[in-house]
Amino acid sequence: MAAIAFLSFFIALGLGVVLVAMRGGPRGMRDTLERGRRRPLHAGEFAVAGAIVLFGLIVPAVVVTSDQAAAGPGGTTLSADLQEGRSLFNQKCATCHALDASGAVGRVGTDLDVLAPTVGLTLNAIEEGRARGQGQMPADLYEGEEAKLVAQYVAAVAGR
Ligand code: HEC
Repeated sequence: MAAIAFLSFFIALGLGVVLVAMRGGPRGMRDTLERGRRRPLHAGEFAVAGAIVLFGLIVPAVVVTSDQAAAGPGGTTLSADLQEGRSLFNQKCATCHALDASGAVGRVGTDLDVLAPTVGLTLNAIEEGRARGQGQMPADLYEGEEAKLVAQYVAAVAGR
């Protein structure tokens, strides 16, 4: 938000300067102010003003709002839920599991990029834990909504 306010200030400043210049510099501007409207705005002036607003405000605004945190693998973007799932995964799962999308390189548990588990399988692993001789995964690391968010995140990004 601060960034947008900052940008808007400079856009307004830029627009002001351009309009003053187009109306004949500071002197023309003074004439305009003293005698009222000297002439109607030309279509060209509107076009320039429009272009400034477009490139100066809208483009940076789009860049600012599509913030880096939302970047997923392969240039995809993650929804708010998937971002939440990623942060949960990073907290409790990344120590044991490898998952490229999280930069996780754990070697205790299954490589999730290779397994690419469904939501159901991950939910089941979280709920019951795993101990089939390949190391141990404790049960109930997450429950309910959080378990679901993690499972959906893994299903969305594993193997991509
Ligand atoms: C302490 C280490 C550890 C943590 C923490 C851990 N896991 Fe595991 N996980 C394992 C191990 C070890 C296995 C494989 C066990 C086996 O096959 O015997 C496993 C298996 C799995 C599997 C595959 C299940 C299957 O049936 O093949 C999934 C999916 C999984 N984990 C997801 C997660 C998620 C999601 C989290 C975070 C909530 C997590 N794990 C946290 C150690 C861990």
